[in-house]
Amino acid sequence: MISSYVSLKRAGSNLVGLCPFHNEKSPSFTVFPATKGFYCFGCGVGGDVITFVMKAENLDYIGAITHLAKRCGMEMPENDFQKNDPNAVKKSRIYAMNRDAARFFHDMLSRPEGAAGLAYLRSRGLTDAVIRRFGLGFAPDDFHLPKPLFVDHMHRLGYTDRELEAGFLVKFSQNKRPYPLFRNRVMFPVIDTTGEVVAFGGRVMDDSKPKYLNSSDTPVFKKSRNLFALNLARHSCAERIVLCEGYMDVIAVHAAGVPCAVATLGTAITAEQAHIMARYTKEVVIAYDMDAAGRTAAEKAIRLLDSVGVKTKILKLDDAKDPDEYIRRFGADKFRLRLNDSENQFDYRCNTIISAHNLEDFNDRMACISELTKLLSTLHTDVERDIYIGRLSEKLKVSPESLKNDVVRLRKRTVKQEEKNALKKELQKSEGYGDRINPEKVGNRLAASAEEVILGILLLYPENLRGITEDTAVRRGLCEDDFMTSFNRRVFSFLREQMLQRGAFDIGYLGQSFGDDEIGRIVGMQVARSRLTKNDMDVLEEMLGVLRAEKSKRTEENSLDALRAMIERKKTAGTTGE
Ligand code: CTP
Ligand code: MN
Repeated sequence: MISSYVSLKRAGSNLVGLCPFHNEKSPSFTVFPATKGFYCFGCGVGGDVITFVMKAENLDYIGAITHLAKRCGMEMPENDFQKNDPNAVKKSRIYAMNRDAARFFHDMLSRPEGAAGLAYLRSRGLTDAVIRRFGLGFAPDDFHLPKPLFVDHMHRLGYTDRELEAGFLVKFSQNKRPYPLFRNRVMFPVIDTTGEVVAFGGRVMDDSKPKYLNSSDTPVFKKSRNLFALNLARHSCAERIVLCEGYMDVIAVHAAGVPCAVATLGTAITAEQAHIMARYTKEVVIAYDMDAAGRTAAEKAIRLLDSVGVKTKILKLDDAKDPDEYIRRFGADKFRLRLNDSENQFDYRCNTIISAHNLEDFNDRMACISELTKLLSTLHTDVERDIYIGRLSEKLKVSPESLKNDVVRLRKRTVKQEEKNALKKELQKSEGYGDRINPEKVGNRLAASAEEVILGILLLYPENLRGITEDTAVRRGLCEDDFMTSFNRRVFSFLREQMLQRGAFDIGYLGQSFGDDEIGRIVGMQVARSRLTKNDMDVLEEMLGVLRAEKSKRTEENSLDALRAMIERKKTAGTTGE
């Protein structure tokens, strides 16, 4: 299953490959056939096949199970899985409803009520094939009819008003009449990577406002987690993704023979979207609008994509506001040429600085040089620095030597600062700072490590659980109270509960109670232990001892503190004469 995403090689009893969740050159992604789990030593993701699908396909728990079931050609026992989830029933209804709505909008294009929509799409240069590929459609202007066409159609298909409202397709007028939210707009369905219609965008056909109306978040849609057209782009975007601002840009870029374009949905790019892209591609070409807003948005995109290890390039388009306009004006061939020599992000930053200064003015030119020197000093290799120094000295009319001197001087300082920062970060990490999964690690480092070893062993050999939780002649059995950090306590309780209920434990169970990152951490504990060969029962006892010693030390400290506080209170009470 996992091997259809990652090419795996055998390494001992395990399989290893390049991690699909972050960029790496040497394989640290490991599959453990024994526990049916996976773990990446590089980025810390881990879990079982379900967590894997959740991450790889950007699905929730139930979505992942459905996906797996579909792959195996199994009928999905929907209601069984959805019993515990009151939202889930609605979800499958909303998927079906969205699909029917998309079909309705699309079919409108070939009816008299939708003639205006079809004419508009054609006026924007879209062929019938493209309209079909993107499933575009038209929402008629039927607010004033006694029963709007859309509402009538959906009622006939059995959807209730409540369902239509939950899916952001209708609202209610003051006299409680349902009316469609999308009216007199051309419609762009948003389709996720499993092929489900999750949302819509609708554009007016004139200059009225708002230009685009988008579905709000619904039970099946989170704007910050989806990318428009990723369903189409995912098949051809391993080398690069072209990131656009708008629906029309994506469609135009696809139609121009570049099928790897996607767009964020009317918002600035989010960290989640950057993560999704990192999963699919090595490089993102940012093709945002050529205005100030577009530039600011591009800066943000560069930063976020950089932080997930994706290379970025900026596409500069002269004499056009956006890719759609460029293609319309200069043609697909010219666009593809541009795309292939788009600037890299460093050039882009240099150019931004240069264009912000007047090089004819002495002071301004000095300011410009100083900013560029700073930027150049962040480059990590001599070769890179020399290339840019050569290029820029020409542009700025300064000697390469003097520019180089400045850069080298600044570089030394930057390196020192970078080293200091790295050291600080390392130190904080070892103290547990910034651990979002188990924040209580700070100040409880020793206890937390002991807990992790204990949990690692118990996860690996859950049959040891009974022995260690039972009281013996020499010690009290391990219990919830022994855990000092609540995350680890939660893991312990969960494990214990599973063993009591089912008499067995499997990583797969974790998905119901823990989030993705948490599962990664838990599998990490298990994996860390599986690489050691010391006698586990002895280690367990030893760590239990450590845990209890820490606890009593803490209790002692606390009671000392309490005592001190009491004495303080007495003292002040004495002086104020109460
Ligand atoms: N957008 C939005 N709501 C608006 C305006 C814009 O959600 N009121 C989003 C849409 O996803 C749109 C993108 O921002 O596609 C870019 O907006 P804009 O540049 O104004 O539109 P274009 O994509 O250029 O649309 P068109 O070419 O159809 O005018
Ligand atoms: Mn446009």
